[in-house]
Amino acid sequence: MKKVTETVEMEELLLQELSAAELHLIQRAQEISKRAYAPYSNFHVGAALVLENGEVFQSSNQENVSFPTGVCAERLLLGYVGANNPDLAPLTLAIVAQRAGEEDWAEVSPCGVCRQTINEVENRFNRPITLLLLRNKNQVLRIRGIKELLPLKFDNLNK
Ligand code: THU
Repeated sequence: MKKVTETVEMEELLLQELSAAELHLIQRAQEISKRAYAPYSNFHVGAALVLENGEVFQSSNQENVSFPTGVCAERLLLGYVGANNPDLAPLTLAIVAQRAGEEDWAEVSPCGVCRQTINEVENRFNRPITLLLLRNKNQVLRIRGIKELLPLKFDNLNK
């Protein structure tokens, strides 16, 4: 038996340490989170994505009374962007969340299905996507590609 370890890497920053473009993306995600449709979880998520041409798109989570039918903010966003801009690689994806009635930002991290979806988009464009996860008012995790959140990821049917 051989013990195998895999380490992951991420950067923890203060909001003021982000670039202006990264900060703008967080703000776009915060704005759109206010328009989430999340009457079942009351967890309002916002995601904003910048493409290689500089264009920014955004989405919130959209829930359903049949819970699994609801869609996470980032997966809805990646689907829309992939459908409408099939030739432009996404570069950076910001994700934020806030509980209804609370002023502080909640800690957020993409679910397993969204991680696999982000992986697919990275593979489609052969380029890692930088993730910015807002942790609270002032703190952000910057993650350089989904491999840091998805060790032993599945991405090849033929080997
Ligand atoms: N959710 C997202 O939209 N993105 C995440 O990264 C975490 C979870 C949504 C799904 C559901 O509508 C609500 O948050 C609670 O899980």
